[in-house]
Amino acid sequence: MFRVNDNYLKLPGSYLFSTIGKKVSAYAQANPDKKIIRLGIGDVTQPLVPAIVEAMHEAVDEMGRAETFHGYAPDQGYGFLREEIAKKDYQARGCSISADEIFVSDGAKSDCGNIQEIFSQDCRIAVCDPVYPVYVDSNAMAGRCGEYDRTRGLWSNVIYMPCTAENGFAPQLPDQRPDLIYLCVPNNPTGTALTRGQLKTWVDFANEIGAVILYDAAYEAYIADDEVPHSIFEIEGARTCAIEFRSFSKNAGFTGVRLGFTVVPKDLKSGDTAVHGLWARRHGTKFNGAPYLVQKAAMAVYSDQGRAQLKEQVAYYMNNARVIYEGLKSAGYSVYGGVNAPYIWMKTHQGMTSWEFFDWLLERANVVGTPGSGFGPSGEGYFRLTAFGTYESTVEAMERIAGI
Ligand code: MLT
Repeated sequence: MFRVNDNYLKLPGSYLFSTIGKKVSAYAQANPDKKIIRLGIGDVTQPLVPAIVEAMHEAVDEMGRAETFHGYAPDQGYGFLREEIAKKDYQARGCSISADEIFVSDGAKSDCGNIQEIFSQDCRIAVCDPVYPVYVDSNAMAGRCGEYDRTRGLWSNVIYMPCTAENGFAPQLPDQRPDLIYLCVPNNPTGTALTRGQLKTWVDFANEIGAVILYDAAYEAYIADDEVPHSIFEIEGARTCAIEFRSFSKNAGFTGVRLGFTVVPKDLKSGDTAVHGLWARRHGTKFNGAPYLVQKAAMAVYSDQGRAQLKEQVAYYMNNARVIYEGLKSAGYSVYGGVNAPYIWMKTHQGMTSWEFFDWLLERANVVGTPGSGFGPSGEGYFRLTAFGTYESTVEAMERIAGI
């Protein structure tokens, strides 16, 4: 008789954004006359910029001609894109990262979820609390998190680093010794960031105890503060202790196109074993390469024209962030984030729980956000709004919230 992976049975409910999606659909069905504004999942609303559309059209034409047709892509990604990434995202910022340390994939979510496979079963993970749910869920599926305490919302074998208003949403070095440390900067969900100095403390700590920092930099395009590094590899010592995840979803609107990459430096080793080789082995075995069309489209992200167009798109979303931040502040809420990230993190109304506030806001304003407790127990009493809506719906959402 076959058996299932019991670890899945320990997981709480469904994936956070699936739960929200179901709740909102049920509400919409019961209230067909209501115009719902969705500022929950961080999904982009602006179309692909013209430079990307043009590059993708050209790639489609190439695929339609025998002499320029492409079959399977190289599993690590086309050299033309990896060279461009290495040069423009890393070397231009003084990071010594080469093209063969870059692994192109179908997105940062998959890589963040899959990376744990190449580490030993007994590795202990440390996460910020609140945190993007994929890090903990994927380790729980692999049986690395111990038992889930449904009352407290905590896994027995995970080291939680609370990030609350009291500590400026900056994780403190843990008392216990982790092997894998997940950091997301700029942060999802709190919208806050770590400075160079703060990140250096983490790099030194990881090198000292022999841990790996799994650094999710999906929102780096939104950094406005010069003190916040765009890559962990800007920090001295990171090549021996860090892996970085990047996404084209938020900087180029690829949530529905799918593309990302992971940087695994060759200096990151466990004894004599280079982690790079293991990730290459996994990638080669389980992934058949991101589509040629999409990798060609991504080249436009780095062209002068593409860069200028995307800068405007990021500014559009960050203007929404400002509208939300100021709108909530003047409605009397405590508000955080929204300066180096497209997420605004707020305290709920009059001490409501995160889910009470979710229901209240949906009922009273027909606005959808994300309950903070869905990201971890320290998110209780908080709520997240995304700046990825349209300008018009963002303004309307703030008017509705101010009116309740
Ligand atoms: C979010 O809303 O946290 C993100 O959109 C989820 C993701 O990028 O997978």
